[in-house]
Amino acid sequence: MSDFLFRKIISIILSVSLLCSLAGCTPAGDAEAESVVTPDDIIVVGFSQLGAESDWRSANTESMKSVFTKENGYELIFEDAQQKQTNQITAIRSFIQRDVDYIVLAPVTETGWDTVLSEAKEAGIPVIIVDRQVEVSDDSLFTCWVGSDFELEGRKVCMWMSKYFAKNGVNPSDVHIVDIQGTLGSTAQIGRTKGFDHMASLYGWDVVTHEVGDFTKSKAKEAMFAILRNYDNVNVVYCENDNEALGVIEVLEASGRKCGSNIKDGETMVVSFDGINKQAVSSLVAGQISCIGECNPLHGPRVESVIRKLRSGQEPYKYQYVNEKIYTNSNAVPSIMLGGKEYGVTVLNESDLYEWPY
Ligand code: AHR
Repeated sequence: MSDFLFRKIISIILSVSLLCSLAGCTPAGDAEAESVVTPDDIIVVGFSQLGAESDWRSANTESMKSVFTKENGYELIFEDAQQKQTNQITAIRSFIQRDVDYIVLAPVTETGWDTVLSEAKEAGIPVIIVDRQVEVSDDSLFTCWVGSDFELEGRKVCMWMSKYFAKNGVNPSDVHIVDIQGTLGSTAQIGRTKGFDHMASLYGWDVVTHEVGDFTKSKAKEAMFAILRNYDNVNVVYCENDNEALGVIEVLEASGRKCGSNIKDGETMVVSFDGINKQAVSSLVAGQISCIGECNPLHGPRVESVIRKLRSGQEPYKYQYVNEKIYTNSNAVPSIMLGGKEYGVTVLNESDLYEWPY
């Protein structure tokens, strides 16, 4: 067949199929295929959540699921990694294979993401990091990050304690404090521990020890038991989340201690982070927890607004920090100053519990 004839036949076939598609006709046998094809206007989001270790995490998952719905024009592929980075890497690779429109990653720890994020970049899929951060050699491997300033959270709670102690005549050297840390290597742990270490050395508190509580009640209980076995002077416990605080309170009370702010009279002060778990917030109102640094989990709408920006051709801010409160149960410290900025302290009482949003 001559080259001319071949090109003529191809052009006739193309014209016929174009006319056919303009007329809306469907070739026999294609009906089934059509029903499995994702319509172009559905946005497919693959979300790798690190696990379900805390109430904060459940609220965060819920927030994402409530936004990325069919009604809102999304298909959400949700993967729970059960605290394992290897599971998150596998999930991201499966999102790439499925050619999703966006990947959202809530990373368990900061390091170890370079390879898989390079694969996503090569595939041309934007990656939005949420909650904790990633430490990568090239920050073009992710589009942007949305989450909390964990070190600031830590500094705020410590500043609240220092003001409270000063007001109640507690000498810094009489503060014997322990830090029950979150999952080691996670941004929430790194930031809250850093904030704690910095302020403790600034004020001259006696840091008795750091123990790992993994952001869970059970691990924090084990840690607190070990602390009570090994030290008898601890009078303040800095828990890196509320689930840990609930475990710590159980152990302290079982050992005959009273949890409260009055360490001069022998109470043990417990402070914490999140403000999601209703039992923890009730414990704050009841005085067993003295101060909670809010950690806001409602990132679903924030991530969605990043996606809308990207779709309209705008560039989102690379790092998007969320504003957060400090909760307590008395007017003793109305506000604190940090880095030249004043932060009001929110006093919670019984009535706030009825309307607590989680
Ligand atoms: O990364 C956010 C932290 O992770 C929350 O404070 C904690 O509760 C969660 O597990």
